[in-house]
Amino acid sequence: MYTKFYKKDIAARKAVLAQDHRYDESLDTPLPESVYDNMIENAITAYELPMGVAPGFLINGKDVVMAMVTEEPSVIAAASNAAKIFQRNGGITSHVESRFMRGQIAFANPKNPQEMMEFVENNFSELQHIAHTAYPSIVKRGGGLHKIETKYVMNPDKTHFLIVYLIVDTQEAMGANMMNTMLEAVKSYLAETFATEALMGILSNLTTESVVHASVRLNPDTLKHSDLIASRIKQASDLAMVDPYRAATHNKGIMNGIDAVVLASGNDWRAIEAAVHSYASLSGTYQPLTKWSIADNGDILGSITLPMPIGAVGGSMGIHPKAQLARKIMKFENAQDLMMMIASVGLAQNFAAIYALTTDGIQKGHMALHARSLALQAGALAEHLDAIVTELTQTQPMNLEAAHKIVSKYEGRE
Ligand code: MEV
Repeated sequence: MYTKFYKKDIAARKAVLAQDHRYDESLDTPLPESVYDNMIENAITAYELPMGVAPGFLINGKDVVMAMVTEEPSVIAAASNAAKIFQRNGGITSHVESRFMRGQIAFANPKNPQEMMEFVENNFSELQHIAHTAYPSIVKRGGGLHKIETKYVMNPDKTHFLIVYLIVDTQEAMGANMMNTMLEAVKSYLAETFATEALMGILSNLTTESVVHASVRLNPDTLKHSDLIASRIKQASDLAMVDPYRAATHNKGIMNGIDAVVLASGNDWRAIEAAVHSYASLSGTYQPLTKWSIADNGDILGSITLPMPIGAVGGSMGIHPKAQLARKIMKFENAQDLMMMIASVGLAQNFAAIYALTTDGIQKGHMALHARSLALQAGALAEHLDAIVTELTQTQPMNLEAAHKIVSKYEGRE
């Protein structure tokens, strides 16, 4: 159904999606002025970015079409290629390790930290009651305050802090609002009980309790350069583990795909960026989010583990038609489903990047996409596009002028 999808025109792509029950014309509308004027202060217009799809993902045996919003030309092509390679090898296996949000209440230089810590540790039910009274609807939905932790940080010659962490099951929501409401209530209660002032209460974006894992196993014979590809991929992974300069770029490539899906789904991509990069630094050295190794039989093993505090309800999701279209395209059933899809796209994006980097280099693919965009700008028609792109990639210098010359030849407009 999705064969040669990229060669179809936009109407034909939409028709394929509709046939697969993944498209709804009524959601394919610009963001109405009445909506964006109420989303932010001082709105003047809506800013547009291309939205595309990456078909071919097979995740836990289920076919997934990724909805992606990005301005970077190679991202969707790379994700779809990697997805197809993964599919040929049995697809991606993914699971959510945990899904809780963490918030913190901080007290600066508390007079009696020991007493406060003991109180918090011994009065979970009471504090849970206060948190739930502040946000009762989450209890009805099966979530709520799950756990409380405390930490006392002593800094010589500096401020000492007592930190109370609330770990909350936010169910389908990302839960920032819910968390902050609970934190405010518990903060006031503790401040009053101990006649002290709290410094702040706020959700943490380092979501060590909202973590997803995805993995693949690839037979090198299904790849080009099959004799050396497994060791090249492993070396690319090892390099990112020992060199933070490479790890940053390695993870940026992963985030190319992740941000595109997060953005399409209407989630807060700054929260995801903050979560991912702080998580990657937890050991004290900035680390890659993926790991590639070689199995005893020579197969390539790839995995990604990362925090993914997204929601499937709330935020702009209820009001943004394109976010609703993204959900229709991806068909995720709940937040956990979306977490697994996002981890899978990250793994695919990383594989595509290091596969290209360690073999042909990244420029070859980028130049082909650039040639395609030049050919289209110069007026190439769909039936000649491939031939024009091939000729253009062999032309020096490859620019719009060269594209115009080749297009005129093919389209008989000389
Ligand atoms: C470019 O946007 C992303 C890459 O640099 C990622 C990588 O180097 O792994 C290609």
